[in-house]
Amino acid sequence: MRTKTKIEFGDFQTPLALAREVCSLLAQQTIEASTIIEPTCGIGAFLVAAAETFPKARLLGWDINPDYVTQTETALLDAGAARRASVGQQDFFAHDWEKELAGIRGSILLLGNLPWVTNATVSGMNGSNLPAKENFQGFRGIEARTGKSNFDISEWMLIRLVKALRGRAATIAMLCKTATARKLLRFAWGNDGRISSASLYHIDAKKHFGASVDACLLLAATGEAGPAEAKVFEGLAAERAKATLGLAGPDLVSDLRAYRRLKHLEGLCPYQWRSGVKHDCAPVMELRRGNGRGLENKLGEYVAIEQDYLFPLLKCTDLANGRLVPERFVIVTQRKIGEDTSVIAKAAPRTWEYLNSHRKMFEARKSSIYSSRVPFALFGIGDYTFAPWKVAVSGLHRAPRFALIGPVDDKPVLFDDTCYFIPFEDEAEARVVAEILNSEECKEFLASLTFTDSKRPITVELLQRLNIRALAADCGLAAEWSEARHRAVRYTEQPESMQAEFVMERPVRSRQ
Ligand SMILES: C[S@@+](CC[C@H](N)C(=O)[O-])C[C@H]1O[C@@H](n2cnc3c(N)ncnc32)[C@H](O)[C@@H]1O
Repeated sequence: MRTKTKIEFGDFQTPLALAREVCSLLAQQTIEASTIIEPTCGIGAFLVAAAETFPKARLLGWDINPDYVTQTETALLDAGAARRASVGQQDFFAHDWEKELAGIRGSILLLGNLPWVTNATVSGMNGSNLPAKENFQGFRGIEARTGKSNFDISEWMLIRLVKALRGRAATIAMLCKTATARKLLRFAWGNDGRISSASLYHIDAKKHFGASVDACLLLAATGEAGPAEAKVFEGLAAERAKATLGLAGPDLVSDLRAYRRLKHLEGLCPYQWRSGVKHDCAPVMELRRGNGRGLENKLGEYVAIEQDYLFPLLKCTDLANGRLVPERFVIVTQRKIGEDTSVIAKAAPRTWEYLNSHRKMFEARKSSIYSSRVPFALFGIGDYTFAPWKVAVSGLHRAPRFALIGPVDDKPVLFDDTCYFIPFEDEAEARVVAEILNSEECKEFLASLTFTDSKRPITVELLQRLNIRALAADCGLAAEWSEARHRAVRYTEQPESMQAEFVMERPVRSRQ
């Protein structure tokens, strides 16, 4: 199969040895299966392994690829299981899963490995291997526009299967990205998916599939609603769980035990966390000092523009690595969302000319948030952007490191949209908040909430869960914080209609 097709169909065949390992785990757990269904069976590794482990079970398999269907039939013939197997070509999205499952008597095991590809990748390739266009999981408005409605095809398929089971007792055993397994559980626990128990077993995706992604076997029993928690095992052979993840408070937490111990640190953060500025035009908007020739953009052009719209910039890697003296600058065309940018023409003609000379790049920005008529528009901008003091953190790094950032050459320092920050007018207040956030207590609490394999382990929603008052008390800074707060001229923020957290959309190169 050509690479493009392989990508669109999320085609990574499971090695037989791994399928056997999974089936022996199921046997060890005395999982019952009179009918085993492989919804996207590929060349049949799971059906062959299941035929060996469950010698009496009926075996049903489908795949969209007719060559794979033939190969699976041959493999099952060779395994001596052809008489109890039925394999056919079928598009998962067109399959009537309710009817299929309703027609099966006895215990059901849904086994396999669904396609590993996101809807964004399929759409980006002009592919058609997608569910019918609908607002996935109810993502609407700003979330959909900023990328949150991007989803894994396998997540959609798993939800489809859980819905089709309609609370019927069955076992689901599927290899998938660990993040996909969590999303399925999050959805099922929050939407009466009736999962009675669940566990995750990490697998080495690099070794088995050559993919640098955190993956697992999701094992779940359906039928009745059970506790919203799942044990997490380091590997298929691990005897003891390393942690239990689950639904606690408004979202999933990675370590329920630690979370319960530190639960008092959860609360409404008294500050509003903000995302850095979003422009989606880094080659033009971000500048660096060149070799003694002034500023250079990422296109290698020398840029001689006025200072008025230039601000020092830090990015997530700077924050994570403690490089807090800005070496970059960003052009900031607006002070609030929707502001008219044509004033730049008069106020800073060289800046205007520079922006205009790259107008096409701005117009090519895909996100619909830029669809207003204002040219060179930004997002994630407001009065808070220009606050002199900030406590900032990278959204993309596992170990959060909160940085205290003050003005440089009398200009506030800005961040890109991979960073989050709290704005302050007052240095002393910012300083004590940074200290509180960097305390061991805060680190431990954040670790109980975050999933280290997430693309963006730190989010606004997560940061907004930090009860600074309780944290200050636990780390012995309550008096300092209270005093600093009272002394500080409170930073007043204008109400803003939209506070979005941006999700980076990157081209997918490997299995994602
Ligand atoms: C990750 S591979 C796994 C194959 C097999 N389950 C295994 O474990 O080896 C995903 C499979 O899904 C199939 N597939 C992709 N899109 C499909 C669709 N819409 N309907 C049915 N099968 C599909 C691909 O052809 C591929 O064989």
